[in-house]
Amino acid sequence: MSHSKLLSSIFFLFFFFTKFASSSLNNKCSKQQSEALLLFKHSLSSINYTTIELLAICDGLDSYYHPIMMSWTGTQVQIAVIGMELLVTAPPVTLSVLTFSNSLTHLKLSVCGLSGQVPPDITLLHKLVSLDLSFNSDLYHPSSKFSLQLRPRVFINMFRNFTHLEELLLDDVNISSVLPTSLNISSSLKILSLYNTRLQGNLPPYFFNLHFLDLDLGYNQFTGNIPLKISVNATHFTYLDLSSNKLNGTLPSWLFTSPSLEGLFLSDNMFCGKVPIESFSLPSLNSLYLDFNNFSGEWELDTLLSSLTNLESLALSYSGFSLTTKNSNHYVNPRFREIQLAACKLKVFPNSFRAMKQLEVLDISSNEIHGQIPHWAGEIGGNELNRLNLSHNSITGLPQFQWYGLNALYLDSNLIQEPFPPSICNMSNLMYLDMSNNRFGGWIPQCFGKITSSLIMIDLGNNSFQGTIPNIYGDCGAGRLTGLSLRGLILNGNQLEGEVPISWSKCQSLEVLDFGNNHLNGTFPGWLGDLPYLKVLVLKSNNFHGHVQPSATVHSPFPSLRVLDLSDNRFVGQLPAKYFQSFNSMKNVVKSNTTPKYLSVGPEKYSIVVTVKGVNQYFPQILVDYTIIDLSDNTFEGQIPNVIGGLNSLIVLNLSHNSLIGPIPHALGNLTEIESLDLSWNQLSGEIPQSLADIKTLEVLNLSQNLLVGHIPQGPQFTTFEGNSFGGNPRLCGTPLLKKCGEYSHEPQLESDEGFDEESGFTWEVVMLAYGCGIILGLVIGV
Ligand SMILES: *[C@@H]1O[C@H](CO)[C@@H](O)[C@H](O)[C@H]1NC(C)=O
Ligand SMILES: *[C@@H]1O[C@H](CO)[C@@H](O)[C@H](O)[C@H]1NC(C)=O
Ligand SMILES: *[C@@H]1O[C@H](CO)[C@@H](O)[C@H](O)[C@H]1NC(C)=O
Ligand SMILES: *[C@@H]1O[C@H](CO)[C@@H](O)[C@H](O)[C@H]1NC(C)=O
Ligand SMILES: *[C@@H]1O[C@H](CO)[C@@H](O)[C@H](O)[C@H]1NC(C)=O
Ligand SMILES: *[C@@H]1O[C@H](CO)[C@@H](O)[C@H](O)[C@H]1NC(C)=O
Ligand SMILES: *[C@@H]1O[C@H](CO)[C@@H](O)[C@H](O)[C@H]1NC(C)=O
Ligand SMILES: *[C@@H]1O[C@H](CO)[C@@H](O)[C@H](O)[C@H]1NC(C)=O
Ligand SMILES: *[C@@H]1O[C@H](CO)[C@@H](O)[C@H](O)[C@H]1NC(C)=O
Ligand SMILES: *[C@@H]1O[C@H](CO)[C@@H](O)[C@H](O)[C@H]1NC(C)=O
Ligand SMILES: *[C@@H]1O[C@H](CO)[C@@H](O)[C@H](O)[C@H]1NC(C)=O
Ligand SMILES: *[C@@H]1O[C@H](CO)[C@@H](O)[C@H](O)[C@H]1NC(C)=O
Repeated sequence: MSHSKLLSSIFFLFFFFTKFASSSLNNKCSKQQSEALLLFKHSLSSINYTTIELLAICDGLDSYYHPIMMSWTGTQVQIAVIGMELLVTAPPVTLSVLTFSNSLTHLKLSVCGLSGQVPPDITLLHKLVSLDLSFNSDLYHPSSKFSLQLRPRVFINMFRNFTHLEELLLDDVNISSVLPTSLNISSSLKILSLYNTRLQGNLPPYFFNLHFLDLDLGYNQFTGNIPLKISVNATHFTYLDLSSNKLNGTLPSWLFTSPSLEGLFLSDNMFCGKVPIESFSLPSLNSLYLDFNNFSGEWELDTLLSSLTNLESLALSYSGFSLTTKNSNHYVNPRFREIQLAACKLKVFPNSFRAMKQLEVLDISSNEIHGQIPHWAGEIGGNELNRLNLSHNSITGLPQFQWYGLNALYLDSNLIQEPFPPSICNMSNLMYLDMSNNRFGGWIPQCFGKITSSLIMIDLGNNSFQGTIPNIYGDCGAGRLTGLSLRGLILNGNQLEGEVPISWSKCQSLEVLDFGNNHLNGTFPGWLGDLPYLKVLVLKSNNFHGHVQPSATVHSPFPSLRVLDLSDNRFVGQLPAKYFQSFNSMKNVVKSNTTPKYLSVGPEKYSIVVTVKGVNQYFPQILVDYTIIDLSDNTFEGQIPNVIGGLNSLIVLNLSHNSLIGPIPHALGNLTEIESLDLSWNQLSGEIPQSLADIKTLEVLNLSQNLLVGHIPQGPQFTTFEGNSFGGNPRLCGTPLLKKCGEYSHEPQLESDEGFDEESGFTWEVVMLAYGCGIILGLVIGV
């Protein structure tokens, strides 16, 4: 068989793999697939590699099914067929770089899950015209950003040795280097793609004096600017991507007169200055991304759209440009697909959008758009519209819309005063729905319970919805493996009533459940304890009543819970000690010391209002390892259970405004991370345990309005608290209270605390010593 025939069979097989893999979601391997695999195994081992010119594998495989695994050891590539879904394994075939060196002109090993060092011998493949090692991220550990490493020296040698090179694609290969100030790049090189390669330092000007067609240096750490002058012959870019670097300075004028430029991607840099819209001469431009920069000046939208007649994607969000619109009837390309104009000071919904029947993405959030959105807007995009962000404007009304293809709908932070738009129930692909901070009212329609199978995040918070929470009819939580199931449900701040429907227990993937500030009633929905991933549960300010007790059927409830807010309800009985015992995610939390991670619901950070210092404080984001228990403003009674001391990662504990009695457990001293502790307005008695004064992290303490007695213990952190932390305890004395100890005889009693720990260093002597000092100080001051 001639090698070219074999090659075409490889291509053919891979094509089919891809097809099969992506269509065989849950099925086992069909007969056809098995045959294809066997054929593939056979052809791999029968190829005469010494004569092969083109080797292309893996590219385009659906990484989720990864039927092919590759590894790279020394100068050899191993290919093994491991059909995860297809349940077939083939012995690895080993290929050596040396075998290819005199023949290979095209090598394409992209999206293979290859890892390790790219062997230096690769530069022996001196006939290479095209080399593609891109996107080899680790399929099993996608969080590791790189799998392939390329030594800077080998990278430079590629330019020296590959004298016929036309394409070099190394995206996601870790090169981690500063480029030399001069580099002899062959004039044959047309495509250079170095996206996310960790290159840094000044952007070398030589990249701009070549005959590149495509240059992608995005997502690196280049500094400096784009050269103002380049040689006349070099202005032939079709595609220039410098996004997500640290580039600054103004944009050179040659960029705006590049006749063949189709894509200009400069997002997320620090470019500044004005860009003269009237000098645009870019007949081929279809994508213009200038978002997240520091430009200045004003652009007239209609003039822009009519001068870039081929434009299909425009991103100016947070670019610094102000946009005006005269709403004149200029030409607009009807093939427009993407418009991102967030924070551009737009005052009206532009008429020019009317022509955009194929729009997929529209983001005009954080502008100054007032009033009703025009009725024709309901037709833009049609079923093509995928993502719509109208948030943070002053919109009062929406048009009738049938955007049944929507994936994400953001209407939050406007002034929309309407019922729930019924057509939302017909959006069977909707994943993100944020209608929060508006004036939506009426009932949430029952049909809403149908669409939960696709939704990942629902935020209807801070509106005026009434009636009951709808039941779930459809599926919920089936897609956990792929991350496509409901993770966040926020209904905070409405006028919802009735009980929490138990049908929501189907949503096993829920991580955030916020029903706070409504008129919900019934007893504590104990079945929530069965949700294995639930991190945040907020039921505050409702009319829930009764005991808070684990349901008998749930074995270890709330294993992932980190935030529990049941405050301001009518709960009674003992504090839920059984629950405290099983809150495993509030114990021994190892805080990540790398970049802080915030709790998010979909792409948005979860915000919360927590009572700290008796004041409602709004936290626009909370760290994932932040832990809170707030049971305040209920009628809990009995003693504070010792087991609470086992929640040693707790940061906020609020038990205030209840009817708790007995001593403050010594075990609370085990809460070594706690920053805010509020036990005020109870009937707690006994002395304040010294262990509290030893907590170094405590910033807010409120023990006021109790029946505490004796001397306030001393400790470095305790000296920072003022009298109001301890007030309203008539028999408490010592700093910072004005009342000095020793004015009446107090008989401190041994704590009835069972968790009292002999080895903690808390002894009578220490307490007596403290009293002694207090008395002396009192006397001295008295004199
Ligand atoms: C592979 O091709 C080379 C060059 O045509 C030839 O010398 C060699 O014998 C072939 N090897 C096999 C195993 O067919
Ligand atoms: C470059 O290719 C030549 C063969 O043309 C080879 O001898 C040399 O070792 C290669 N250089 C490097 C640095 O790999
Ligand atoms: C990238 O390579 C550099 C230098 O070899 C290394 O220090 C760094 O850890 C690598 N980064 C990743 C994410 O692999
Ligand atoms: C640059 O490369 C070309 C051919 O690839 C060669 O002729 C020329 O001498 C090189 N220049 C330098 C300064 O190395
Ligand atoms: C520019 O291109 C022209 C013809 O395409 C050629 O004659 C000239 O030498 C080139 N100039 C430079 C500086 O490369
Ligand atoms: C651009 O950034 C460099 C540092 O990378 C700085 O020295 C220079 O002043 C900046 N230029 C402008 C115009 O901001
Ligand atoms: C953005 O530009 C303004 C002036 O136009 C300047 O004061 C500011 O420092 C710039 N910001 C950055 C991040 O470059
Ligand atoms: C929607 O717009 C807001 C405000 O500009 C922004 O914060 C948010 O990230 C956007 N959401 C999406 C998914 O684009
Ligand atoms: C939703 O779709 C059904 C049929 O699929 C249709 O009868 C109904 O009118 C649609 N509702 C809305 C509000 O678009
Ligand atoms: C609730 O939404 C309104 C807009 O309708 C907004 O003014 C207000 O600040 C929001 N409240 C909170 C707590 O976010
Ligand atoms: C709960 O609220 C509903 C609706 O407001 C009401 O009909 C019902 O009587 C309430 N149940 C209790 C126990 O308060
Ligand atoms: C408090 O910590 C001590 C020492 O680490 C331990 O012996 C005791 O059991 C802890 N108490 C509670 C209630 O966790």
